[in-house]
Amino acid sequence: MSEVRLEGVVKRYPSPDGEIEVLGGVDLAVGKGEAVSIMGPSGSGKTTLLHIIGTLLRPTSGRVSLNGQEISSMGEGELALFRNRKIGFVFQFHHLLPEFTVLENVMMPLIIRGERGAEERARRVLEMVGMGHRLKFKPAQLSGGEKQRVALARALVNSPSLLLADEPTGNLDWKSSSQLMDILARLHRQLGFTLIIVTHNREIAEKWGKIYLLERGKLRCCTD
Ligand SMILES: Nc1ncnc2c1ncn2[C@@H]1O[C@H](COP(=O)(O)OP(=O)(O)OP(=O)(O)O)[C@@H](O)[C@H]1O
Ligand SMILES: [Mg+2]
Repeated sequence: MSEVRLEGVVKRYPSPDGEIEVLGGVDLAVGKGEAVSIMGPSGSGKTTLLHIIGTLLRPTSGRVSLNGQEISSMGEGELALFRNRKIGFVFQFHHLLPEFTVLENVMMPLIIRGERGAEERARRVLEMVGMGHRLKFKPAQLSGGEKQRVALARALVNSPSLLLADEPTGNLDWKSSSQLMDILARLHRQLGFTLIIVTHNREIAEKWGKIYLLERGKLRCCTD
């Protein structure tokens, strides 16, 4: 069973120029624990596609199933619960809360869900991304690469089965990028989540298994 399966996914947006079709029938199957990357020109719909996979956005038509569950049949409440339990997100911008410490930022998803042992788990995952020495720092006191490592810890603190990363190294220099990707590769091996990573960087894309290319509304697999 695939962790992620898309069949004929179409997404149209209303726009000042009338309706535009961004995704024109996208099929994708990503197996459990697999890692794939998605490349494509700016505006080709990569973020749109990732948001549809992450249940943040509903497709205009087509089918999306995650871990064998068809998500179009789920209501908003059920979907939000599913998303919180199963999916982790890392974005180009870290979206850490500035007034909270590193530790508090990472504990937040667990606190929101009323889980016990939030601090212990947050500490553990921060150790895993090499940020165990900065627990009391605020985001403004961290480097760009460090902020993204904290954002990665926050995405993984719920032990998601699927991690979606949208240009996670887009704002980082080469050294911080490769450091973040090395950490991600190690955690992917250790924790076994399914990973879909959007990147403009060919070198980064090549670190993972298959590379997909999104162009003119269609997704094709260009490398195996
Ligand atoms: N809410 C929206 N309403 C109307 N059009 C939208 C909306 N969101 C995105 N679009 C359009 O859909 C297209 C794809 O956007 P998307 O953000 O998915 O591209 P992308 O491939 O992630 O680009 P980039 O590499 O620059 O991040 C763009 O042309 C954009 O203008
Ligand atoms: Mg984008």
